[in-house]
Amino acid sequence: MFEVRSASVCDDGAAVRVEWEDGEAARFHAIWLRDNARDPDTRAENGQRLITVNQIARDTRVTLAAARDGQLVANFMPENKERTFDGAWLKAHIYDRADSGMAGRLPAEAEAWGGDFDVSQVDGDFNQIINDDECMREWLAHVRRYGFATVSGGPTAEQSLFRLVERFGFVRETNYGRLFEVRTEVNPTNLAYTGLGLQAHTDNPYRDPQPTLQILYCLENSAEGGESLVVDGFAAAQRLRAEDPAGFDMLTHYCARFEFSGQDGVCLRSRRPMIELAADGELNAIRFNNRSAAAITDVPYDDMAAYYAAYQRFADIVDDPAMAPCFKLGPGEAFIVDNTRVMHSRRAFSGTGSRWLQGCYADKDGLLSTLAALDQRTQAAAE
Ligand code: FE2
Repeated sequence: MFEVRSASVCDDGAAVRVEWEDGEAARFHAIWLRDNARDPDTRAENGQRLITVNQIARDTRVTLAAARDGQLVANFMPENKERTFDGAWLKAHIYDRADSGMAGRLPAEAEAWGGDFDVSQVDGDFNQIINDDECMREWLAHVRRYGFATVSGGPTAEQSLFRLVERFGFVRETNYGRLFEVRTEVNPTNLAYTGLGLQAHTDNPYRDPQPTLQILYCLENSAEGGESLVVDGFAAAQRLRAEDPAGFDMLTHYCARFEFSGQDGVCLRSRRPMIELAADGELNAIRFNNRSAAAITDVPYDDMAAYYAAYQRFADIVDDPAMAPCFKLGPGEAFIVDNTRVMHSRRAFSGTGSRWLQGCYADKDGLLSTLAALDQRTQAAAE
């Protein structure tokens, strides 16, 4: 199905039309093809491009296009040079489709979820994740798709969470240290270290970039209460868009401000929207944290009342129990969230018994890189 069946020049040589064995067809511009050629003069063996875009002739045209051995062969002018393109590669990079353009749409590999989300479907066994690449690949794929996964069956030794992170990437150290202890403190530097319930939030929106992954690993949890809840921020944003489009525009258009200066020598500040879209409207990130929201000063006077109405409406959605699956971590259990997307919270817990979690941040690029490399290995083995 990835074999090119036929190819023809169109738009006076400005583009090529390719048809594959399965009947799918798409157009590619001559300049795009030239830029993405894989010949040794264009690309190094490591895949990095050897030319700059202004080394490509402005009037690049294709004078001849044909299918040969399942590949596209095209002759480029004015270079008068033939280049070959792999059919599967072309198919994976089709852009000839209607603009999906809707603001607030999900990234390609994401799936939105609500309170009926079955948490057990994204659970991975600690030892299998540590020892088996295929199990780890499945577990990481949950994080990519849902922004959330859990772990069970782990040890109750301190710092076990690092063993998970080291499987796919790197810990992101902050002023809270390489890891932070989430347990009741008498004079907490941060409200997370009390028995209070917390509103669902993303962590550390006052950093820029914000931490992209958070892992919370449970070592003890005999206290009454203290259940964890997670809310899909992308689902919440899409619900706001559906129920209050003008409010959605407020939170995507204007920057909020976040700040944390609760520690000597620390004054972290950021200026970013609560719902961040990519330039083309795709959902990029959520930042939502009542404890560290600073005074908002980037909304014009005439829009501030509407901004607060949108902010409160969004908070109502975040607080809606229908959005939030609930679970209680036991010793040796953990969860990981994509902190650019999924909010987490906990119910209040009593002072009796003990509750001790260790948390750390890590970077999503490392996770996605490990996952993509494992995906490629799995595909290669299947071929
Ligand atoms: Fe948190």
